Amino acid sequence: MRAKPARVAILISGTGSNMDAILRARDGINADFVGVISSKPGVEGLHKAEAHGVPTAVIDASAFAVRRDFDDAVADQLEAWGAELIVLAGFMRILGADFVRRFENRVINVHPSLLPLYRGGTAVEDALADGAKETGCTIHVVVEDVDAGPVIIQRPVPIEAGDTRDTLHRRIQAVEHELYPEAVQRICAGEIHLDSLGDDQPGVTALAGTPSG
Ligand code: GAR
Repeated sequence: MRAKPARVAILISGTGSNMDAILRARDGINADFVGVISSKPGVEGLHKAEAHGVPTAVIDASAFAVRRDFDDAVADQLEAWGAELIVLAGFMRILGADFVRRFENRVINVHPSLLPLYRGGTAVEDALADGAKETGCTIHVVVEDVDAGPVIIQRPVPIEAGDTRDTLHRRIQAVEHELYPEAVQRICAGEIHLDSLGDDQPGVTALAGTPSG
């Protein structure tokens, strides 16, 4: 285990259930959770962060006419906190190329599909519309292309007869809530190096789980 705890910030835009799962697991993670940023005011996730005693900041995306200015405000807050690892958890803003370069290999995200399948904002609907028998969730490194970064860990979720977007997303989220804390724990323990997840993606082999749900 790395001797020094990693300084971790979490970015949210809404419910914050993945953030909550990570913070519930914090005793087993070698990290200092330095702050939570929400891109929307008044969301449920902010109350959850406060209940965990983690500092919060609201950077209201709707108040910025230019995306780059929003990205810079987020980056400045992260640097003020000294964040080393940035965890996107239901953060519904696309971060621009300059932001991604500034924090290269330090930003991770959760996505409700088995990437590279079903990139984008309608991943759950797309899997259903496709008639797929399974989908899943992925923790990946954030790169300039949306949902295109190296996979850190992913786990399948079967699609059941009669599934709707909501029933399927709920089952995917139950798996996310196990997978994301595990990924953060293993990164902070120094078992996974985000800058060495190359084409052969050793993280996937090491961490691939069994189907659940
Ligand atoms: C999660 O299920 C995550 O997979 C999804 O948003 C949800 C946020 O929930 N992310 C995306 O669709 C990204 N394209 P939460 O705020 O309760 O963690």
